[in-house]
Amino acid sequence: MNAIEHLIGFRNSIPKPFRRFITFLIQLYGADIPQTTQIGRNVRFPHNATGTVLHPNVVIKENCVIYQNVTIGRSDVEKPFTGDFELVIEEGCIVGAGAKILAAQGKPLHVGKKSMIGANAVLLCSTGDNEVWAGVPARKVGMRNQGN
Ligand SMILES: CC(C)(COP(=O)(O)OP(=O)(O)OC[C@H]1O[C@@H](n2cnc3c(N)ncnc32)[C@H](O)[C@@H]1OP(=O)(O)O)[C@@H](O)C(=O)NCCC(=O)NCCS
Repeated sequence: MNAIEHLIGFRNSIPKPFRRFITFLIQLYGADIPQTTQIGRNVRFPHNATGTVLHPNVVIKENCVIYQNVTIGRSDVEKPFTGDFELVIEEGCIVGAGAKILAAQGKPLHVGKKSMIGANAVLLCSTGDNEVWAGVPARKVGMRNQGN
């Protein structure tokens, strides 16, 4: 485990009033990972999550790997926030370096279990399970070996 992964695990284990300080430490590493973002067990952030930005409502389920410079958040940033925002990365996904996963309010986006999002992809819609998506905008380019 690297420093960011330790800090996130520690943040989840302490009372809420103290979590703000840990969030600040995470920001010093160059990552914006809000304390309300739900991060499951054994989620990995290789390279200390450098440049990674997550929306507070995002859910990342267990055993995912999120590489550096990933943004997961809203596409419709010009609109006021209504709270109707759902973006879930299901179990075992890999999000490649520099990928952006963007959803609009009122249009839930789910990345299916064990799917892989390529480096620098801009993913704007949900995927199925075990799929590989890449490009701008991202399209399905293959299937993952289901043993992975
Ligand atoms: C998306 C990815 C998983 C695909 O790997 P793969 O399953 O072996 O697929 P292939 O290399 O056979 O490529 C399949 C197609 O997707 C395209 N493609 C692959 N990666 C792409 C990417 N990042 N962006 C755009 N297109 C990509 C290929 O050109 C190919 O297109 P074609 O069918 O028109 O020829 C991989 O290229 C990738 O981006 N991995 C992330 C790596 C990463 O972030 N590493 C961080 C290290 S610190």
